[in-house]
Amino acid sequence: MCGIIGYIGKQRVAPIILEGLKRLEYRGYDSAGIAVINKNKVSVLKRKGRIANLENLLKKRQVSGELGIGHTRWATHGAPSTKNAHPHCDCSGRIAVVHNGIIENYQELKRELEKDDYRFKSQTDSEVIPNLISKFYKGNLEKALREAMKKLKGSYALGIVSADEPEKILAVRNDSPLIIGLGKGENFIASDVPAILKHTKKVIYLQNRQLAVIEKDNVDISDLEGNKVSPKIDSVSYSIEAAQKGGFRDFMLKEIYEQPAVVSKILSQWVSPEGNIDFRDIEQIIIVACGTAFHAGLVGKYVLESLVRIPVWVDLASEFRYRKPIIKKNTLIIAISQSGETADTLAAVREAKKSKAKLISICNVLGSSLTRESDVNLDTYAGPEVSVASTKAYTAQLMTLYLLALYLAKLKQNLNKDELKKAISSLQKVAAAQKKILDKNKDIKRIARKHLHFGAFLYLGRGVNFPNALEGALKLKELSYIPAEGYAAGEMKHGPIALIDEYRAIVCIANDSPVYDKMLSNIQEGLARKGKIIAIATQGNEQIKSYVKEVIFIPKIEPLFSPLLTVIPLQLLAYYVACLKGYDVDKPRNLAKSVTVE
Ligand code: AGP
Repeated sequence: MCGIIGYIGKQRVAPIILEGLKRLEYRGYDSAGIAVINKNKVSVLKRKGRIANLENLLKKRQVSGELGIGHTRWATHGAPSTKNAHPHCDCSGRIAVVHNGIIENYQELKRELEKDDYRFKSQTDSEVIPNLISKFYKGNLEKALREAMKKLKGSYALGIVSADEPEKILAVRNDSPLIIGLGKGENFIASDVPAILKHTKKVIYLQNRQLAVIEKDNVDISDLEGNKVSPKIDSVSYSIEAAQKGGFRDFMLKEIYEQPAVVSKILSQWVSPEGNIDFRDIEQIIIVACGTAFHAGLVGKYVLESLVRIPVWVDLASEFRYRKPIIKKNTLIIAISQSGETADTLAAVREAKKSKAKLISICNVLGSSLTRESDVNLDTYAGPEVSVASTKAYTAQLMTLYLLALYLAKLKQNLNKDELKKAISSLQKVAAAQKKILDKNKDIKRIARKHLHFGAFLYLGRGVNFPNALEGALKLKELSYIPAEGYAAGEMKHGPIALIDEYRAIVCIANDSPVYDKMLSNIQEGLARKGKIIAIATQGNEQIKSYVKEVIFIPKIEPLFSPLLTVIPLQLLAYYVACLKGYDVDKPRNLAKSVTVE
C-alpha cells in the first residue's frame, strides 16, 4: 500500500505534506514525492528511499504554494526509483496525480495513449492516470477525470491537482481508502488519519466510488454518475500514535490481525511464476533464509516434498555459504526474506548463484536487493511489516510456498485436477479460520497471564507443525526474553525430557493429523513429570480436554495446511506474555527489523 496526502488552504503546503508523509511512512517507504501548484505551474520533487531524502531535497529546493499533494510509495509495478516515485504528471506537466492501488489494465491504456503520442517516463501503472485525464481535458478537470475513470480498471485512491485549475484538489476512492480532513479555510486529503490528525479531527471517510472536489472553503462529494452526496462527518477519537496503528495498541497486534486479509490477497493475486526459469527441469530445491523466514522454509520442505516429490534441503542462510554446499545441476534455490535486505540471506544467494542455480525469491519488499538479484520474485503482498517480530510476513511466506508447491505439483503432474481443486478450496478457507482463532484472543490472553511467571517454555510439534514449534519459541523469546526452545516432539525422549518439571510450561501443537496420537503421548509424558501443558487442538476434539486444562482450539483444516492456523495462537501467546510483562512488543531489546549486517 502507499500513502497519499493533499492540502489546500492558507499555509505553506510543503511542510504540511512532508509531516503528513512521515506519519504515513508505515504504509510504504521506498520513495516519496510532492507536487505543488504555484503561479500557474506544477513543481514536482521526488526522491527514492526514505522520506528523509525528500526532506533534504526540499531544504535545498524550497517550493512555495498553498496547494499540493504528496505520496510515499510501496512499489507494486516498477522498482523503487526517483523516476517511479509519485506524483506522476501528464506529458504537458500541467496535471499531477498520486495513486494508491493497482491499475490492472494499465498496459492496454498505455499502448492506446502511446498511439496518441503520449510518452511515458516511468515503469509504473499509475502514470497512465494523469495522461488519460489530460487526453479528456477540455477545460473541466472534473469532467475529464470522470471520463478517465470509465477506462480505469483496478483499485485506486487518487489525489489530483492541475495548474489550469489551481483552486482545487480532486480526490477519488475506488477500493483504496481515502479520507478528507476538514479545517477552517483549509482542507486535506489523506490515505489514513495519522497524516492529518495534527490539523483536524473532523474527517469524511470517502465511500467507495465517490469523487470529491476539495477547495479551501468547500468540499463537494458525488458518486461516479455525478449525483451529489451529503457526506457523514466523523470526529476522530484517538491519538496520532494510535491512529498509525489503525486503533490497535501496537503494530504487532495490527499485523497479527491483518493476516486473514493478507492470505486472501495472496490467493487473489497469485499468478504462476514467470521469468527465465523452466520449472519442469527442477530436480531438487535448496531453501535459504534466516529466523522466522527459515521456519517458513522448513514448512516449505514438508509441503514441497509431499506435493512435488523432489528432495528439498533447508539451510540457515548464515551457515549455507560456509559449508561448501554441493549444488547440482537443475537445482532451484528459494530465498525467503521479508525485508529482502538480510545480509546472511543475500550472501547465501550470491554463493548459490556461483553455481548457476536458478533463484526464486519469496519477498515482501519489491525492489529490495534480494528481488533485484533473483531470476523470479514471488511478492508476498503483506504490506509494510513494521513490528520487529515477524507475523503476517510469516503466514504470507507460508501461503506463497503452498501455492508454489501446488504449481510445481501440477507441472510435474503429481496432482490431478480434483486434488488441486481440493487443495485450493482448503486454502480459501484459511482466512475465515484465522479470524475464528483471532476471536479467541481474550482466552489466549488469560492463558498468557496464567503462565507469565514460568522461567522457561518448551514448544513441541511434529511433522509439518514442527517448524511452528520453533517459530512459537522464537516469538516468545524475542518478545518476552523468556528462554524458550522449540523441539520436534519425537526428540523429547532423546534427552530434552530431562528438562520437564513443574516449573516448565510446555506448548504442544496437537491438531488433528496423522501424528496426533504421538503428540498425545508426548502430552502424557509431560503431565507425568508435572509439566504445565498448553495445547493447540482441533475444534471438536473432546478427548484432549480430559488431559489438558488449557486448550486453544483451531478450526478443522487439512493437516498439511494447518501451520497457517496453528501459528496464530503462538503469535498471540507470545504477544500477550510480552505485553503483560510490560515490554515494547514493537521494538524488542537488541533486535532490528532487518539485519543488514552479517
Ligand atoms: C522474526 O520475528 C525476526 N524478526 C527475525 O528472525 C527475522 O525473521 C529474520 O531476521 C529474517 O528477516 P528477513 O525475513 O527480513 O530476511
